[in-house]
Amino acid sequence: MLSVVVLISGSGSNLRALLDACQSPLFGAKVRAVGADNPATGLEHAELFGVPTFVVDPGRFETREAWADALLANVQHFEPDLVVLAGFMRILPANFVQALSPNLINTHPSLLPAFPGAHAVRDALSAGAKTTGVTIHVVDEGVDTGPQLAQREVQVEVNDTQSSLHERIKVVERELLVDVVRQIAQQQLQLSV
Ligand code: GRF
Repeated sequence: MLSVVVLISGSGSNLRALLDACQSPLFGAKVRAVGADNPATGLEHAELFGVPTFVVDPGRFETREAWADALLANVQHFEPDLVVLAGFMRILPANFVQALSPNLINTHPSLLPAFPGAHAVRDALSAGAKTTGVTIHVVDEGVDTGPQLAQREVQVEVNDTQSSLHERIKVVERELLVDVVRQIAQQQLQLSV
């Protein structure tokens, strides 16, 4: 059974999709813990499923590195085989990435390498993109630059707002993330950087 720790910052709908999928023993993975950088509303999904949670707030640390060390210690306490960044909105320093690499994956709401960074949906809209989507990738030391594991396209509609487009992307994103974690759990997908 693949043991997974999920890190979130927001509403946790991707986390929820993973928790639901893990209900089936055939899925092959189990969410062991969920962490966040703030008291995110998405932590409620973990609590509903009886999964332990932790919050490591960067505001309580002198440096980003000290924060990341504390976050890493919390993650490693659960001895995960895989760590999933599912809407975790902070850049992780090299020491964190190196400690978990290549078993650290991220979901990003664009077709990378287009529109990396924290405002991928807004940036795709302002660039007038006709198509955007979602990418699941292994995390390396860059921002949204690691090896891609899967991508899926989403069409931009004429009247799309940032929120309508992001909601349609997230429907596809949840399915793709669940599928990638299933493939890793069932050893159909090997991770490397
Ligand atoms: C996702 O689209 C993720 O890729 C992005 O933020 C969103 C998080 O959604 N960076 P949720 O918290 O899983 O609902």
